[in-house]
Amino acid sequence: MLQDRDRIFTNLYGLQDIGLTGARARGDWDGTKAIMEKGQDWIINEMKESGLRGRGGAGFSTGMKWSFMPKQEGERPHYLVVNADEGEPGTCKDREIMRHDPHKLVEGCLLASFAIRAHTCYIYIRGEFYREAEALQSAIDEAYAAGLIGKNACGSGWDFDLYVHRGMGAYVCGEETALINSLEGKKGQPRLKPPFPAGVGLYGCPTTVNNVESIAVAPTILRRGASWFAGLGRPKNSGTKLFCISGHVNTPCNVEEEMGIPLKELLEKHCGGVRGGWDNLLAVIPGGSSVPMMPKSVCDTVLMDFDSLREVGSGLGTAAVIVMDKSTDVIQAINRLAKFYTHESCGQCTPCREGTGWMARVLDRIAHGKAAVEEIDMLFEVSKQIEGHTICALGDAAAWPIQGLIRHFRPLIEARILGQSAQAAE
Ligand SMILES: Cc1cc2nc3c(=O)[nH]c(=O)nc-3n(C[C@H](O)[C@H](O)[C@H](O)COP(=O)(O)O)c2cc1C
Ligand code: SF4
Repeated sequence: MLQDRDRIFTNLYGLQDIGLTGARARGDWDGTKAIMEKGQDWIINEMKESGLRGRGGAGFSTGMKWSFMPKQEGERPHYLVVNADEGEPGTCKDREIMRHDPHKLVEGCLLASFAIRAHTCYIYIRGEFYREAEALQSAIDEAYAAGLIGKNACGSGWDFDLYVHRGMGAYVCGEETALINSLEGKKGQPRLKPPFPAGVGLYGCPTTVNNVESIAVAPTILRRGASWFAGLGRPKNSGTKLFCISGHVNTPCNVEEEMGIPLKELLEKHCGGVRGGWDNLLAVIPGGSSVPMMPKSVCDTVLMDFDSLREVGSGLGTAAVIVMDKSTDVIQAINRLAKFYTHESCGQCTPCREGTGWMARVLDRIAHGKAAVEEIDMLFEVSKQIEGHTICALGDAAAWPIQGLIRHFRPLIEARILGQSAQAAE
């Protein structure tokens, strides 16, 4: 279990002062100028060495992403864009950082922007996060007033401006290129890649898009050193992570833990265990609604990190752990998610626009036992036709939960179709 001394988010629950004085007492803004004096290459290298993988879902190396930006600023300015859209169902971590520990993000924005040679950063925050935007803006105002950001930020000689932009709600706006479009005032629809944002991003300029948590952990990594962060967790899956646990546990919560903690330990130590005991567990969606669920037999031993979860056919995603006990109708649960993806498809790609609706309709009939057994294979086949054949990963996100359901609960689906009770089929 993570020791308190290794915790990054020491005000996750907002029990202490969220303002600059409180933040400084927790170690934020300590030696920021000295870190900047070590130079861009040192910072990027340190981030690579720390092994930090993006906390927005895809798990791409943060240091590597920063290194893709041009080494010199040319005619086009560089931008950092922080993704604070947090639309993935089950995920509720970035909002807690912004609401209770906003200076971690503000300092991270300065250091990350400096590293990628950006003088401007935009935080794109989901419109519904009103209080979070307020707390963030107040931290930004304090940082400007204290000379930590703005002209000659922290006395480093680097000019840096930071803006909060409130978005308006669609899940797909969290996809990095849709987010860039939305920030530019266009429809929030994903762009084809390549070109990648590091080449052609915001206003056609070199841009890095990172998740709130990825940026907020950067100052502590740079202060305490890459080897400290890399020493937590497992190789290639290092550091600490915020887990958001919801559903059928006794005490749902957000908690910072070491990467690679066994799922069972996570739920038992921090959430009072599964409602009705571990044996009452049916399945867990470990990384937000977009990743395939795992049946109890896998949950018994799986570790919570990128590689362990991939090995069992699921994913860490945003580390939003959705727990379902035996009272859950899993077919109906995935049916509900399928409806969500249908609603959120932006409609640009045929497989996603048509396929998400088709899958949701079939699943709805299955959930009500009004389908043929042969349709299970057809549903799986269609999900495979969507996966990997679209502009953005929303298509995959719609396909994977359905694939997980069919892979692990086929007898239950067949029983539903054949009009038997779920119990009789078990
Ligand atoms: C449909 C869709 C929605 C997404 N929503 C979010 C989101 O709300 N927040 C986020 O950080 N990343 C989201 N992402 C991932 C981003 O595209 C991007 O990978 C991420 O912001 C990169 O940050 P990271 O490297 O720090 O993880 C979404 C991706 C897709 C396909
Ligand atoms: S996969 Fe879906 S959401 Fe993504 S661009 Fe295509 S239609 Fe839009």
